[in-house]
Amino acid sequence: MKQTIFCTLFYLLSLGFFSCQPKQEEDKTVEVPEEIKSNLTVNTSFFGTLPSGDTATLFTIKNQDNMEVKITNYGGIITSVLVPDKDGKMEDVVLGYDNLEGYLKSSPYFGAIVGRYGNRIANGKFMLDGKEYPLAVNNGKNHLHGGLVGFDKVIWETEIEKKENSVALKMKYLSKDMEEGYPGNLNVEVIYTIDNENAIAIDYIATTDKTTHVNLTNHTYFNLTGDVKRDILDHSLMLKADHYLPVDEGLIPTGELRNVEGTPFNFKDFQKIGEEINASNEQIKLGGGYDHCWVFNRQTPNDLEILGELKEPTSGRVMQLFTTEPAVQFYTGNFLDGKITGKMDKVYNQRFALCLETQHFPDSPNHPDFPSTVLKPGEKYESSTVYKFSVEKEVGN
Ligand code: BGC
Repeated sequence: MKQTIFCTLFYLLSLGFFSCQPKQEEDKTVEVPEEIKSNLTVNTSFFGTLPSGDTATLFTIKNQDNMEVKITNYGGIITSVLVPDKDGKMEDVVLGYDNLEGYLKSSPYFGAIVGRYGNRIANGKFMLDGKEYPLAVNNGKNHLHGGLVGFDKVIWETEIEKKENSVALKMKYLSKDMEEGYPGNLNVEVIYTIDNENAIAIDYIATTDKTTHVNLTNHTYFNLTGDVKRDILDHSLMLKADHYLPVDEGLIPTGELRNVEGTPFNFKDFQKIGEEINASNEQIKLGGGYDHCWVFNRQTPNDLEILGELKEPTSGRVMQLFTTEPAVQFYTGNFLDGKITGKMDKVYNQRFALCLETQHFPDSPNHPDFPSTVLKPGEKYESSTVYKFSVEKEVGN
């Protein structure tokens, strides 16, 4: 009994019942941190259920310029990007589907996070520390974009961080030791940040507990005409790159860095993509168009630099490309063949979109002279890319 009275008194004291001081208002706000006011909005909605029973969420982020970006935590896929044209008309500039079913049925990596390794690894294997690692083979005899179940087909954990002039959608995934054949538990974080300057920033971070290879990218298919009106052959592209990597029949780099000068691969000044895409050139033939890796002329090895720009003449839309990566896979949707009908019932014919996949070189694990993609325990993989949209009234060539 004595003990009960003592406890009750102690409890009332702790609540401040016997205190003469009036209770201060601030006490409450200390415990419940006020949410940061952002002038961008974020909405979450149900996107669909996977065969496993897991559910996918769709995040819709809108900025002050009405730019609207939709991203799902299934594969970290950017499903839609609405940006203004020169008259302020908002239209979608990326390919994809309205619902999860589309992505589950057939998707050539539309909008997805690609990992552990963006692009091909020859014969689906590499040697690391004297040991051979066979990988999942999913592209002829080669390994492509992380294998059979790459980072584009998994559910990512999410967290939203609001700032006054931006919203970050953080995605996390643990790729287990030997997943798709890769050694090491790899903790991956991909952060999409949308700001009021119409930029989509993507930051990639990864750590491992065993030496492994990592090369992350995003596989968004862009078409700046808006709502996919026609192919991308009238878009003009500039890439700050003196060299590209020639490939073999399996689209594996031969190891040579070839000068772009005097070839259809010269985008040092703005060039219309359609200009030489059908040129009688051995490399164009092997790629079925452009499907090659350009090696950037970087000022510094790791800073975010503007290294590319894409323009579409009718809409006036412009997209600048900033990256910390040494290279970009420029792919002109050569394998799109009209079999896919995407959002708004649009049929995706050949070359109806292009990808600018910032990354290290394809097949680096088998090319010791290429910049290394090895990640060791204790090291941090860090990579950033920004796609920034704007308009020009007169888009020249
Ligand atoms: C590759 C293409 C491939 C496409 C879709 C690109 O990164 O370079 O060869 O067809 O992705 O998988």
